[in-house]
Amino acid sequence: MATAKNVSFGFILLVLVTFLCCSITVFAKVHVAVINGLGPGNALYLHCRDKNTDLGEQTVHYNQNFEWSFNENVFDTTLYWCRIWWYDHHKIVSINNEIYNGGKDADAFHGSCGDYKDRCIRKAQWDGIYYLMANGSFEKVYDWIR
Ligand SMILES: *[C@@H]1O[C@H](CO)[C@@H](O)[C@H](O)[C@H]1NC(C)=O
Repeated sequence: MATAKNVSFGFILLVLVTFLCCSITVFAKVHVAVINGLGPGNALYLHCRDKNTDLGEQTVHYNQNFEWSFNENVFDTTLYWCRIWWYDHHKIVSINNEIYNGGKDADAFHGSCGDYKDRCIRKAQWDGIYYLMANGSFEKVYDWIR
């Protein structure tokens, strides 16, 4: 009886460990969100794509965000880049850069996608694009081209 109990306990543990491990590393979806932090009345425009997917042109109002998700590949090589722009007193300001780079951002300790490498928060402010880093602070990554 004791042996059977140990075997079933071992089996349950194995299932549990497999589930926890694989739901994080294999099945976890990466979410990228770009927040409009430009202030009331300022619309933010985005056009993001990776090599296979064009997410189209998006308009994001103040305090709203545009979010998309995808499965990162095992080599963390996914790249999304975006043209992001807005109008500062009718004058266009923009960037055209990577907004998710699997190799850099999907790092649980120094990356910008959280502890589980799956939530990448970016925020547009009047002076540039900020990333929410693993330590909880927003760091400026890009200045606008004016
Ligand atoms: C948070 O991390 C970033 C980069 O990883 C670093 O530049 C910044 O100084 C850190 N901020 C705090 C408050 O620890």
